[in-house]
Amino acid sequence: MITLRSRREIEKIRAANQIVAEVLQHLRAIIEPGISTLELDRETEKMIRRAGARPAFKGYAGYPASLCASVNEVIVHGIPRRDVVLKAGDIISLDVGTELHGYYGDAAVTLPVGEVSEEANRLMAVTRGSLEAGIAAAWPGEHLYTLSHRVQQYVEDRGFSVVRDFVGHGIGTALHEDPQVPNFGQPGTGMKLKAGMVLAIEPMVNAGTWEVEILADGWTAVTKDRRLSAHFEHTIAITEDGPEILSMLA
Ligand code: MF3
Ligand code: CO
Repeated sequence: MITLRSRREIEKIRAANQIVAEVLQHLRAIIEPGISTLELDRETEKMIRRAGARPAFKGYAGYPASLCASVNEVIVHGIPRRDVVLKAGDIISLDVGTELHGYYGDAAVTLPVGEVSEEANRLMAVTRGSLEAGIAAAWPGEHLYTLSHRVQQYVEDRGFSVVRDFVGHGIGTALHEDPQVPNFGQPGTGMKLKAGMVLAIEPMVNAGTWEVEILADGWTAVTKDRRLSAHFEHTIAITEDGPEILSMLA
């Protein structure tokens, strides 16, 4: 079931997402070689709770942390660990979710640690660009899978691949709501988007194969070929005037 959100509800979802955006900004400022992903998780949880919100990922389907910290070949759902210590040349996807007064925020960025390879830089830029291409299609009357196709096309035109096994999602009074938002699809198909829909769009882009493997912890998703992966996510509202990014720092 897809719920169309009122202006008042959209502002509540924005408030939850503003906390996410502030956390991501803070994490960006403190990542450096030598810091562990567990320390990043501690900072994340502290900041979310200080803002009066709750970490939405913690306890979700048994997920043990407030942050997903996915380094290099890890696509998504990297569990923060004391023994995962960042080093120059790594790229890290930071994915944060919040619940504030019953409404949810969800966004992610991928960042370089020190100097990274040209391929890593290109992968991050293309993944961010594909998210922007998807968001640009989020207008009332557009077909959902046209948006999906725009993401896929943007990525594949630039020689990378989109992950099939994980998708974006509706978001509002739950972290995951209908519809699913794949990062691949047939243009002109799928439901028509409507003003009031709120979506988390989250392309996961691999340097090599799109195929995924899940590690023994049941969460960590890695590329089958162990090449690099990047991930960006925004929560957006579809309005009569087009897409509004709710997880962009005001
Ligand atoms: N942004 C991801 C998602 O929407 C992160 C979820 S992690 C989980 O699925 F722990 F909450 F599952
Ligand atoms: Co999400």
